[in-house]
Amino acid sequence: MNIIVCKNYDEMSLRSAEIMAEVIKGKPACVLGMATGSTPIGLYRNLIRMNKAGEISFKDVTTVNLDEYYPIAPTNDQSYRYFMNEQLFDHVDIDKAKTSVPDGTAADPEAECRRYEEMISLLGGIDVQILGIGRNGHIGFNEPDAKLILDTHVTDLTASTIEANSRFFASEADVPRRALTMGIGSIFKARKIILMVSGAEKKAAVSALLSRTLDTNFPLTMLNLHPDVTLVCTADVLD
Ligand code: GLP
Repeated sequence: MNIIVCKNYDEMSLRSAEIMAEVIKGKPACVLGMATGSTPIGLYRNLIRMNKAGEISFKDVTTVNLDEYYPIAPTNDQSYRYFMNEQLFDHVDIDKAKTSVPDGTAADPEAECRRYEEMISLLGGIDVQILGIGRNGHIGFNEPDAKLILDTHVTDLTASTIEANSRFFASEADVPRRALTMGIGSIFKARKIILMVSGAEKKAAVSALLSRTLDTNFPLTMLNLHPDVTLVCTADVLD
């Protein structure tokens, strides 16, 4: 695993954007794996700046997002579809028809997960996947458990994730209890992974990752098996 230690959030955002920009420049019709949460917002700001400056174009880019709450409407300002439009897609030259987020309104969520997994395979995998982590070490919405699921699936959110994510909702009761998420195997369809982490509250999860042990109670530890992961983190995560 490559590790890039940054002095602060802004540097982490810039370094991650530079890696992504290299991928886009090298393959204009690439497939980008996108993530939500507060962590990648700065990265998206840098990508918007680079796009406006003419350094990169999203014209031929396809994107797939990791996950979505279930149920949730795309017009809900807490949905991940809404987040992606607002934080990136509305500000760059991307064709929104080429952007995918699992459908939080699907009548049959299991069928939606099967469709999503097949779509990723048909795209030929993901050129570079952005990942953040939850405080409990989840990636996407692959929550700590005795078993981890390989394919895109419906999952129950843990109490700790509901509590952590409630800061974005009016109240904890408003946080959806389920989500649709790419599985560990779907994430591993990415040829390259950028794992972004900042904030001391994620130290325990990062220390599990760096202990070189596989622990399903810290789903991010599975990334030790992937051949091309770059951890881009702030120094406080490693203290
Ligand atoms: C959500 C997403 C994860 C993300 C996590 C961390 O739970 N499903 O993909 O990594 O939030 O969020 P933040 O970056 O705000 O800490």
